[in-house]
Amino acid sequence: MHRLRRPIRMHIAPVGVNKFCFLFSLAFCGLLLLLIPALQPPARQVDLPQPRPQARRARAGLQHRVGVPGASVRAELSRTEGTGPDALSPKRGMGPGRGATPPTGKAGGPSGYRSRKPLDFKDIFIAVKTTRKYHKSRLELLIQTWVSRHKEQTFIFTDGEDKELQTRTGVNLINTNCSAAHTRQALCCKMSVEYDKFIESQKKWFCHVDDDNYVILPSLLGLLSSYHHSQDVYLGRPSLDHAIEAAERVKSDGSVSVKFWFATGGAGFCISRGLALKMSPWASLGNFISTAEKIRLPDDCTIGYIIEALLEVTLTHTHLFHSHLEKLQKLPTDTVLEQVTLSFGGFENRRNVVSIVGGFSLADDPTRFKTVHCLLYPETSWCPNSA
Ligand SMILES: *[C@@H]1O[C@H](CO)[C@@H](O)[C@H](O)[C@H]1NC(C)=O
Repeated sequence: MHRLRRPIRMHIAPVGVNKFCFLFSLAFCGLLLLLIPALQPPARQVDLPQPRPQARRARAGLQHRVGVPGASVRAELSRTEGTGPDALSPKRGMGPGRGATPPTGKAGGPSGYRSRKPLDFKDIFIAVKTTRKYHKSRLELLIQTWVSRHKEQTFIFTDGEDKELQTRTGVNLINTNCSAAHTRQALCCKMSVEYDKFIESQKKWFCHVDDDNYVILPSLLGLLSSYHHSQDVYLGRPSLDHAIEAAERVKSDGSVSVKFWFATGGAGFCISRGLALKMSPWASLGNFISTAEKIRLPDDCTIGYIIEALLEVTLTHTHLFHSHLEKLQKLPTDTVLEQVTLSFGGFENRRNVVSIVGGFSLADDPTRFKTVHCLLYPETSWCPNSA
């Protein structure tokens, strides 16, 4: 008995110390956990695309490759570029009035982000591409839903007059005078007009969507707020799981192949003003059509070609944009309202819509856009249970 007690006592002592150590480390860990949020840098910063050497190279290349972009575009480009060594010379081709504008030089390092004022809906230019025959069946639904909330920044690009629709709804309807055919040339013609109107608008972000897209504007604003419009930003959903390869006709005697990613136009995509200005030599005043002809690819591919292949700026892949080519039913119901764009299957695939439950039956709201709209804006007069 006597011999047994000692080892037992000796055993107890270390347990007591262990317990103390355990409790102490628990308390220490707890304290650390509490401190973590305070020690971390703001989460938004993680998403910011950092200036890459690649982009610098493209900018330097631009200096040599740029032909004759409009003087106003060039002046604006140098203003947004700042005074870096690779900025376009502000003296070149500028009028006396323009020369007086000092370059801000603020957009560059992440240090400039904290002081900037928050992005507003009016800073976004949303281009909706449609065609005359879809004014009734598709456009009316968009005007009734999301467009109605943001008429001033939404611009509808079509191919026929519709004075009645314009006066009744008060939307910005732009007749591009492009052909109504669903050909590469006609689609590129519309994209070309969209680009020129955006540049003219002075807005900070260019976003393109189709007439079968619902745009969740608060989500879009949130997404764009994590970037700066003077940076090179190209946001969208890649339509393929690999980069596209295109034959670039360089000379009449031979062609060079190029590989690049592009954002699918059917899901919508956004481009910062800074990047849009650099696209000018290949996109402005009809140049877009000749660029598309050169690679013989559709409008959205051509945008990818100009940005990724020519300007060497990479597409920021996002899965918040959705086209009718996806299985939209697969989108988890509780995430639908957090997406940036939605779509619907259309005539050939009527059941391909987002699964969401709300005020309207599938028969009353086959696209689910009204249901989405009433969940986002329940105060809308035509929504069930609106006050
Ligand atoms: C289309 O044509 C009309 C009439 O000629 C013209 O007023 C309008 O500016 C043109 N639209 C565009 C986008 O060029």
